[in-house]
Amino acid sequence: MGITLLLIYMCTIYLGFCHVITDEDYALLPPLYEMDNYTNCKLQKNAYCQVSFTLKPLQNSKTWELIQISKKEKFMFSREVIHRAVCIPGDYEGFEDRKAFVESKINEKLKPLYLSTKADDIVCSVKPSFNLPPSSNTIQSISAKLA
Ligand SMILES: *[C@@H]1O[C@H](CO)[C@@H](O)[C@H](O)[C@H]1NC(C)=O
Repeated sequence: MGITLLLIYMCTIYLGFCHVITDEDYALLPPLYEMDNYTNCKLQKNAYCQVSFTLKPLQNSKTWELIQISKKEKFMFSREVIHRAVCIPGDYEGFEDRKAFVESKINEKLKPLYLSTKADDIVCSVKPSFNLPPSSNTIQSISAKLA
């Protein structure tokens, strides 16, 4: 199939609506993955935690529109859920304290994009493996271990 034919095909299967996502559009999206320095975190005896967040809009915005498109488009990763490996200071010990810490940290960054979020799950002190996009099954199976 020629590239033109493929493009026409992709444009028509989505209700005749062709979404062209530019580099500028991608820059409006929060990164899928971000990681704090693991070595540094462990040296300071802090907790290294993997957290996933489902994004919600504070108000309608271009970013939120793009996230909705990313959920529908087969040739784009869904950008609705983002993953972070966060170094959490050692004095935040309980689950609720850690959750509050990571949520406030990320919401500060998301506010200019008119987004907000709550942590879906928090898995601490596991060396992160971000080689593959984590499936929700994997995350759910390890998150159960956090007491
Ligand atoms: C991570 O932290 C360690 C220890 O402080 C440091 O040596 C290393 O350069 C840091 N790595 C990055 C990518 O900043």
